[in-house]
Amino acid sequence: MNTFFVYLHNILRWVILILLLVSIVKSFSGWQNKKAFTGSDRKVWLFTMISAHTTLLVGLYLLFFGRYGIISVGLPEGTHLMKDNFYRFFWVEHPFGQIVAVILITLGNGMAKKSVSDTVKFKKAFWFFLIALIIILATVPWPFRHIVGRPWLPGM
Ligand code: HEM
Repeated sequence: MNTFFVYLHNILRWVILILLLVSIVKSFSGWQNKKAFTGSDRKVWLFTMISAHTTLLVGLYLLFFGRYGIISVGLPEGTHLMKDNFYRFFWVEHPFGQIVAVILITLGNGMAKKSVSDTVKFKKAFWFFLIALIIILATVPWPFRHIVGRPWLPGM
């Protein structure tokens, strides 16, 4: 069960990154070229948000009930959360950074419903999505990260 959720969480990272990149490119082009906001823009933004929310739910499960879960396992005796690089990353930095990114993606998608001009929709959504992307890239446990690094793909 845990392995399934870790694998799912790992794969969803790529789904979010691809959809987020498409959303950023489309918002930037819509903003700069003063395009009309279309159903295709709305769909990409919506799917980006759905993939982010799904990853968030799986992440919350892993955080509380996973193999290093706060409830399922707890902090090993003698470990100080903020002094331990591993636990500080998986219990604080990664969840906090990613939750902020998911909020920004939700705000970006929310621009679709705002009664503002299409150029303003694209412009604001572009900034929300871009900042979310930077935060995601900064707080993912990439394989090259010391101590907390995880594989590019599940089971690698
Ligand atoms: C929404 C964007 C997120 C992305 C792109 C992301 C990405 C990742 C990746 C790539 C891993 C490594 C998976 C592996 O070992 O194969 C991971 C692990 C983990 N993530 Fe996230 N994550 C996100 C959100 C969250 C959130 C919101 C939480 C908690 C509230 C969370 C909690 C965790 C935990 C606890 C692990 C370690 C799981 C384990 O090894 O047992 N993640 N995350």
